[in-house]
Amino acid sequence: MKKKVMLSLLAAMMATYSQAQTPTEAYRPAFHFTPEKNWTNDPNGLLYYEGEYHLFYQYNPFGDTWGHMSWGHAISKDLIHWEHLPLAIPEFDNPDGKSQTMIFSGSAVIDYGNKSQICPPGTKDCMVAIYTGHVHAKGEELEQHQNLAYSTDKGRTWTQYAKNPVLTLGTPSFRDPNVFWYEPQKKWVMSVVKPDIHTAMFYESKDLKSWTKTGEFGKQGDVSKIWECPALMEVPIDNEPGKKKWVLYISSGHPVEGFVGMQYFVGNYDGKTFTLDKGSPKPAKAGWGNVIDYGKDYYAAIEFNNLPKSQMKPITLGWALNWTYAKELPTSPFRGGMTLPREVSLKRTPEGLILIQKPYLELAKLKRTALESIKSVSLAKEEKDLNKATGDRLEIKAELLPEQAREIGLKLYKSGDEETIIRYVNGKVQLDRRKSGQVDFNPSFASVEEAPAKLKNGVVKLHIIVDASLVEVYINDGEAVITDHVFPTKKDGKVSLYTKEGKGSFKNVTVEKLD
Ligand code: FRU
Repeated sequence: MKKKVMLSLLAAMMATYSQAQTPTEAYRPAFHFTPEKNWTNDPNGLLYYEGEYHLFYQYNPFGDTWGHMSWGHAISKDLIHWEHLPLAIPEFDNPDGKSQTMIFSGSAVIDYGNKSQICPPGTKDCMVAIYTGHVHAKGEELEQHQNLAYSTDKGRTWTQYAKNPVLTLGTPSFRDPNVFWYEPQKKWVMSVVKPDIHTAMFYESKDLKSWTKTGEFGKQGDVSKIWECPALMEVPIDNEPGKKKWVLYISSGHPVEGFVGMQYFVGNYDGKTFTLDKGSPKPAKAGWGNVIDYGKDYYAAIEFNNLPKSQMKPITLGWALNWTYAKELPTSPFRGGMTLPREVSLKRTPEGLILIQKPYLELAKLKRTALESIKSVSLAKEEKDLNKATGDRLEIKAELLPEQAREIGLKLYKSGDEETIIRYVNGKVQLDRRKSGQVDFNPSFASVEEAPAKLKNGVVKLHIIVDASLVEVYINDGEAVITDHVFPTKKDGKVSLYTKEGKGSFKNVTVEKLD
C-alpha cells in the first residue's frame, strides 16, 4: 500500500516536472521556427519543391553561440509547422590539413531534369545549394568563395560538387550568393555582395557551374555598415494587375550599434544589373524610409525560390535577431530563430512605391480561440485591462483613433511593473520594451523602436502577433513592421488599452489565442 502511494506521488511529481518548463525554454516561440538546440542565424536556401518548403539555416551543431557554421535543415508543408531534419551541409577540413571551410549563407534551386549535370546521370531533378565557403585557419579569414552542393533525395543528403569553388575572386569578404532562375533569358542569376564596399554584384550562368559578371549596384542608401545577404526578387504592385517591379533586399546592420537592420531598393533588373527607380523611397534620415523592419530583431531575410505558380507574391523569411546582442539572448537550449513567413508586395503612395509585408499564415490551420472582442471603446487618459486577454500566444487586431489623445496604445505582458508598450504617438508607432521583463543582459536591449505610421481617416491599424519572446507588429496593413524580442518574467500578463493626455478611441479590437 505504502509503495503504491509512493509510486503515485512520484508519478504526480514527474507529471508536474515534465509540464513545468525551464524559464528559458518557456521563451521558445511555438509557431516561429527555432532549432531544437544550439545556435542559428540566417535562413538559407529557402526553396519549395514537390509539396515541401525547405528551410536551411546557419547553424552551429556544437554550441549556442556562433561557430562551426554549417547548414541545418527543416521542412514544412505550411511554412509554420516545421519538421527538423538532420544536418544538411557540415563544415569541413580542407585537404591542405591546415584550414577549414565553414558553410556560410546562400540559396538553393531546383535544376529540373538535371540539365547542368551536377547530380549524377539519371537524376530526375537536381537540388543545388549555392553557398559561400568561408575558408579560415587559426581564426583568420583567408578567402570567401561560392560553392555548390547537390542532393538527389529532396535535400535529405548532400554531396559537395567536385570542382568547387565555382566563383572566386581569391579574396576574403565576398559572400551570400542568392540565385534564382531568370526565365526571360533562360539563365541563372546570382546576386552576391562585397560587404565592405557596400556593393551587390550580379552574375549569370547557364549551368550554375560557370559564372560571368554582368553588373553591380551599391554605395547607395545606408552605407554606414557592411552589406550582407542580398536578395533580388520581382514583386507585384497591389491593385495594378500584371504590374511588377524588382526589389533588392540588403542586410546592413552587422555588427555596429545603432544599426538599420535591413533596407530595400525598388527598381529594375534588365538581365544584367539592378537600377534604382527614381521614385524609390529614400531614407529621409539614416534608417528611415526604405527600412524593411523597424524592430531590432529582423535580419538576413531572403525569399523562397521556386514557389508554386499560383503564389504571385514572394514569400520571405528573416532571422529574428541581430548581431548586437544575439550571443547574450536569454534562451536555452536554442539561440536564434526565424520570423513568420511574410508575403510581400508593393504599393503606390505619394512617396513612391513602398514595400508591403503581411504575415503569411494562410496555409497553416492555426487554431484560434477568441479571448476578447470590442467593437468600440473611448478612453480619456485611462487604462482598460482586457482581463480575458492573457497568455503568450496571441493575435491582436486593433484600430487606434488618437482623436485628442497625445498618445494611444496597447500594453502586452502587463504584470506588476512589467509591460511591453505598443503605442501611436505623433506620426509614429513605437514598441517600448524598456520595462518588458529581462532587459539587462545587454546594454542596448532596453530600447524603444519606432516606425513611421500615417493616420488614415484618423485611424492607425495594428496587427500584432505575440509568440512567447517574439512580437511582430504589422502597421497599417503591412506598410511598416516592427519585430522585437521581449522576455517577460511572467507569461500570463494581461493586454490593456490606454490613452494619455486626452480622449482617444479603439475600434474593432480582437484578441485571439493562437495554438
Ligand atoms: C549575415 C552573415 C552572412 C554570413 C553569415 C555567417 O548574418 O554575416 O553575411 O554568410 O552571417 O554566419
